[in-house]
Amino acid sequence: MHKVLLPAGIPKISYGIREIVSKGFEMENKGFPVFWENIGDPIQKGITLPEWIRDVIARKALDNSTYGYCDSKGVSRTRRYLAERTNAHGGLQIDEKDITFFNGLGDAIARVYSQLDSKSRVLLPAPTYPAHSSAERTRIKQEPLFYTLNPDKNWMPDFVELREMATNHQEIVGILVINPDNPSGTVYSRENLEEIVRIAEENGWFIICDEIYENLVYDGEMTRLSEVIGDSVPAIAMKGISKEIPWPGSRCGWLEYYNRSSNPHFDAFCERLDQCKMTEVCSTTLPQSVIPEIMSDSRYNTLLDSRSQAIGSRMDRLKSLVNKMPGVYCNGGGGAFYAIIHFDPESMRVPLPVELFSPERYELYKSWIKGNESPDMKFVLYMLAGFGICSVPLSGFNCEHAGFRITLLEETTEKFTAMLTMLNESLNYLKQSTVTVAGL
Ligand SMILES: Cc1ncc(COP(=O)(O)O)c(C=O)c1O
Repeated sequence: MHKVLLPAGIPKISYGIREIVSKGFEMENKGFPVFWENIGDPIQKGITLPEWIRDVIARKALDNSTYGYCDSKGVSRTRRYLAERTNAHGGLQIDEKDITFFNGLGDAIARVYSQLDSKSRVLLPAPTYPAHSSAERTRIKQEPLFYTLNPDKNWMPDFVELREMATNHQEIVGILVINPDNPSGTVYSRENLEEIVRIAEENGWFIICDEIYENLVYDGEMTRLSEVIGDSVPAIAMKGISKEIPWPGSRCGWLEYYNRSSNPHFDAFCERLDQCKMTEVCSTTLPQSVIPEIMSDSRYNTLLDSRSQAIGSRMDRLKSLVNKMPGVYCNGGGGAFYAIIHFDPESMRVPLPVELFSPERYELYKSWIKGNESPDMKFVLYMLAGFGICSVPLSGFNCEHAGFRITLLEETTEKFTAMLTMLNESLNYLKQSTVTVAGL
């Protein structure tokens, strides 16, 4: 007899960033090249860690102690080092007790949302990185509450809307900010961050600030939450090494608790997160152990600067291509390594000229279409089948604007140029209905 295992009515979990991958493989299996622009894995896109970083890791791997469990909250020397790093920005001062390690920031995100009351709501940005929305959805078993990031304002929030939401939804207990943002890459100005802190204070919210891209900023000034939080609003900053060392396979991220002592409910919540960590014993020891040596090396900042500049120049090339097309826009940018390309909603109503694809590409496209796709998903499948660009629809980020996200990680200039050429053709192709495009 088969017993029911899953609770009734649980919401579907989706993660558009990876769901598109099997279709990309189908393309490759048919011999068509694919530009993998869906996932933010710098290693997959060809970045090699410098030898000096691999040497640090290799040396630590010879140290037997890195094979053992560490403290539940993480390696204490590293937590002390990271607290000092945050303190050096001059805002709120924390110590090692305010930091807890997890097995990647994804693990920390799942844990944070899971421990809130089921009636409480965290207000999420739309678009948002789906790990946050999935975690919130899983706990509350319904659609989360979203505030809109406005593409015409560089994907910044509308503070009037935020205040209205606060008035209309007393169940909100916290707000999420992703800075620099994924998917738009936008970096929050100090003023905007201060306004969020003000709204949180007015409404008794806590703030979750995902700063995993804090050291990948190519345009503008990065203001960390710790610099503007003051001494009363409770908050959690989320950080990690997946993107900046970059070592995504290390599964190593951490939470920084701000102003625990200002609010007993928040203090109990942080305590609870730490107790959960205790029941899992601890997080990955080796990657935690190498953080101080890597980050305090003078070559580290030089490395981050040069990578950020390279991302910025790719963004410039993309923007100068896209923004001269009528009805197509690329706004935002400044940090992280993503770009959103979005359209006037009208352009999504035009039938896609897929019948002009070669028969094999056309067949693939037809086999993927089930009839219930969102318009932007259809567009993403059209770009993949016809032009080999594997991207993520904005609907995968809980966003109603028509468009998609690509990465800016391609290390080989020729490959990035080839991707831009295909992108140009796929967007231009929309306006031509009878021309056969070279390479299709
Ligand atoms: C905004 C944001 N937060 C968290 C994560 C998860 O990072 P980790 O690899 O540490 O789980 C990502 C990964 O893409 C991300 O973009």
